[in-house]
Amino acid sequence: MKNQEAGQPSVAIRKNAEFFAGNDWYKANQSRLQIYQLIAEAAAQEVKAAKSVLDIGNGGIFAFPIAHIPHVEAIDLFVDESFSARYPEVHWRKMNVLDLDDRGRFDTMVMINRLHHVTGRNVAQCYENLSRVFEVSFRALQPEGKLVVIESTVPDWFLAIYKLIFPILLKLWPLSHPATFQYDYLDIHRAADAVGFQDGATTWIPKIGSIMTLGLELSSWLTPIRVGKFVYKKPAMLTRSAKS
Ligand SMILES: C[S@@+](CC[C@H](N)C(=O)[O-])C[C@H]1O[C@@H](n2cnc3c(N)ncnc32)[C@H](O)[C@@H]1O
Repeated sequence: MKNQEAGQPSVAIRKNAEFFAGNDWYKANQSRLQIYQLIAEAAAQEVKAAKSVLDIGNGGIFAFPIAHIPHVEAIDLFVDESFSARYPEVHWRKMNVLDLDDRGRFDTMVMINRLHHVTGRNVAQCYENLSRVFEVSFRALQPEGKLVVIESTVPDWFLAIYKLIFPILLKLWPLSHPATFQYDYLDIHRAADAVGFQDGATTWIPKIGSIMTLGLELSSWLTPIRVGKFVYKKPAMLTRSAKS
């Protein structure tokens, strides 16, 4: 699967920005639906002692409290003026995570429901993107820093079928919601491990109530999705070097 560069097609970038920018339905459901309340609690636990945080794929929503954190930055494919009006203390950058070039800057980095949005133009490029996200995150963290990934995952049987139909789906995609590619949680662990992260402590978010998927609100039991929190540690002394 290593035959191409990481990259996100322009149509995926445009659809993400168009769908999530100013999406009041998405924002309101984040605070209304129980599963997102649990995600917010899970994220809040991880930033309690943070001093410098980067939230990747923020979308104008901090799922966790930030008032106590001395330095907060956020990136997304789009940054609306309303973000800095609502969060004037946050440093905002409009950029693709695949281009993140920060080095040793944060003690905590957070990605919530973001990995499955960094799609490539085929399955192999989705996996390249997954690897790239972990490489740039590893580099951007301080030694002993942590990467908190809260992500919806799918079981391997579902992923095997999805991989077969993904190229067709990309060609025919009819929804305003961008196409997504969700991983088996072991894919995520492997990508983290490959760049030198340790631990990967996993907590599953209880599957309760409804979940948003592809722009729809569905009973979470109608989907094979399982949302996990995966916490990866950057070692104090590098035992393996990041790829770039
Ligand atoms: C499902 S939303 C999650 C927003 C927020 N993190 C939350 O907790 O609700 C996914 C976000 O990832 C952003 N995104 C997708 N691809 C990205 C990329 N390559 N770089 C940075 N952000 C990206 C989208 O624009 C969108 O705001």
